Amino acid sequence: MTRHLLKDDDLSPAEQAEVLDLAVRMKQDRWGAKPLAGPQTVAVIFDKSSTRTRVSFAVGIADLGGSPLIISTANSQLGGKETPSDTARVLERMVSAIVWRTYAQAGLDEMAAGTTVPVINALSDDFHPCQLLADLLTIREHKGRLPGLTVAFVGDGADNMAHSYLLACTTAGMHVRIGFPEQYPPHADVVADAERIAAGTGGSVTLTHDPTEAVRGADVVVTDTWVSMGREDEKEARVAALATYKVSEALMAEAAPDAVFLHCLPADRGYEVAPEVIDGPQSVIWDEAENRLHAQKALLAWLLERA
Ligand code: CP
Ligand code: NVA
Repeated sequence: MTRHLLKDDDLSPAEQAEVLDLAVRMKQDRWGAKPLAGPQTVAVIFDKSSTRTRVSFAVGIADLGGSPLIISTANSQLGGKETPSDTARVLERMVSAIVWRTYAQAGLDEMAAGTTVPVINALSDDFHPCQLLADLLTIREHKGRLPGLTVAFVGDGADNMAHSYLLACTTAGMHVRIGFPEQYPPHADVVADAERIAAGTGGSVTLTHDPTEAVRGADVVVTDTWVSMGREDEKEARVAALATYKVSEALMAEAAPDAVFLHCLPADRGYEVAPEVIDGPQSVIWDEAENRLHAQKALLAWLLERA
């Protein structure tokens, strides 16, 4: 059966580790693997803006010997005249995989249910699983391991990154803490899934409204924009509710002395993170951005092997 990555726990703990191991090998030998030789085409569809995702998929597909077809939904029939499943039925006749950045998770579910080629979530309102593969790769590079580490996400708990941190890091056997204001809690079903996964991997989930409690002693500190794409109208209320959740130098100092700071980018310096932190010595954001390339190449190769 065709495998997809629609949310982080579509990969089991063993499968996630396999993809990360493959990403390490692909990073060491960037042009060594050509599973898309032909060239086979991969469709990469964007309903929302992107820099990193667009570039890393385009470059990664080319590295793998394939041809990226970048599609803006605004200039296609998808989203207006045509359903995700009809779009998928057409694309699968011509492309080897479909990568889609969209709004509702339900659209991705419909796309995947309707096609025989792998579908990859390149960010939805609810999850950003490609980013988490890159983040886990980055944490592994800097910390030498994943299981048993504590990661603290501070900010909008209902954000796609918070949800993906919950699922992906518990899958990796990590302890996940989310520090968020009461107005923006993580979705209860995602928390329940993360707790279930953690029970099997030795990880854990801690939810708190106290940012200091979230960060204290953590090995990894992470945040994300307070105003995700599609939420621009809520900016004023969000900035007010999240003001005390900024990753300041003082908050970062609560983490372990050798903690690393991650941010998926783009960042709003002075809002969710102080410039001194994101541009400081503990920040590994540029490695994190580069690792989108290696992690997604590994993911594509892994999914295509099983298609
Ligand atoms: N982190 C991330 O997904 O960045 P883009 O929005 O630039 O793709
Ligand atoms: N939470 C952000 C992530 C951007 C990569 C958003 O959805 O806009």
